Amino acid sequence: MDLRKPVRKAVIPVAGNGTRFLPATKAMPKEMLTVVDRPVVQYAVDEARQAGIEHIVFVTSRNKHSIEDHFDDTPELLASLERAGKTRMADELRELLPPAGSVSFTRQQAPLGLGHAVWCARDLIGDEPFALLLPDMLCYGARGCVAGLIDLYTAAGGNVLGVEQCEPEEVSSYGIVARGENVAHGFAVTGMVEKPKPAEAPSNFYLNGRYILQPEIFDILATQPRGAGNEIQLTDAMLTLSGRQPFHAHPYEGRTFDCGSKLGFIEANVAFALARADLGEAVYASVADLIRKHDTASRAA
Ligand code: G1P
Repeated sequence: MDLRKPVRKAVIPVAGNGTRFLPATKAMPKEMLTVVDRPVVQYAVDEARQAGIEHIVFVTSRNKHSIEDHFDDTPELLASLERAGKTRMADELRELLPPAGSVSFTRQQAPLGLGHAVWCARDLIGDEPFALLLPDMLCYGARGCVAGLIDLYTAAGGNVLGVEQCEPEEVSSYGIVARGENVAHGFAVTGMVEKPKPAEAPSNFYLNGRYILQPEIFDILATQPRGAGNEIQLTDAMLTLSGRQPFHAHPYEGRTFDCGSKLGFIEANVAFALARADLGEAVYASVADLIRKHDTASRAA
C-alpha cells in the first residue's frame, strides 16, 4: 500500500446547522458569517489552495446554497465594479474564484456526525489521500496549518493530524491524542479519544480541525457505530485505522480560533482585524478605548 501518494484534494464539511449562532444563522449558513470581511469558509479554502490543494469537495446540507454561490463567478458584479472604477476589488474577487471544475458539492442528507459527513465525500475523493479542513477552526499564523501537515506527510507519509495544546479543562470539547516518539517535526500518535473527561484525557494535545487521511478511512466509516454525542465520530474511525497505518501529529506553530464558539469567533475578528494593514491601528485604538471606558464604568458602578 502506497501511503505517500500526493495530496491533491481536500474535503471541507459545511453541513452543520449552526444552532449556537442563532438567530444569525436562521437564514444564513454559519460558514458564511464574516471574520472582518470574508466568510469563515473562505479562509479554509484559501489555506487549502495555498498548501497546493487542487480540488475541494464541500459536504453541504439543505439551506447552504449561498456557499455554492460564493465560490461561483459573478460576471454582472465584476462588470459593475469595473464600470465604477473599483478595479482592485474586481481583481481581488477574480483572484478568490476557484478555477472552473476545481470544486464539487455533495450533500450530507442527515446530521449523523463528522464521520458521516466525511464518508459522504468518498466517491468524489476516490482512492487517494486527502486533506480535511473543518472551517469553524480558523488558523491564524505566518502560514496555514495544512501546509505544515503536508511537510510532515512528505517526510513521514501515512496520516497526519493538526494538533495544538489546550487548557486541561477544555479537553472535553475536542478530540485528544496520545503523544508517542518524535517523528520529523511532529510526533507519532499512539491513541485518540473524542471529547474525553479531563481525568481520562491522554494529553492536552487536541485535534485542531486539520487532517491528512488515507482513503482506507472510508471503509471504516461505512460501518462506524455512533460514539460521543450519539454521532458517527471521525476520531473513532481514525483510532481503528491507526491499528493498520501510521498516524503522526503536527503541532501547529500558529493558533486556531474556534469560530464554532461565540468567544472564539469574536477573538478571530479582533485578531484578524489587528493584523490588517488597512485596519489594524484603528481597531487597536478603538478596542483599547472601549476597554478603558468599560473599566472606568465598572469601577464607578
Ligand atoms: C470535531 C472533532 C474533534 C475536533 C474538533 C475541532 O468536533 O470531532 O475531534 O477536535 O472538531 O473543532 P466538533 O467541534 O465537531 O464537535
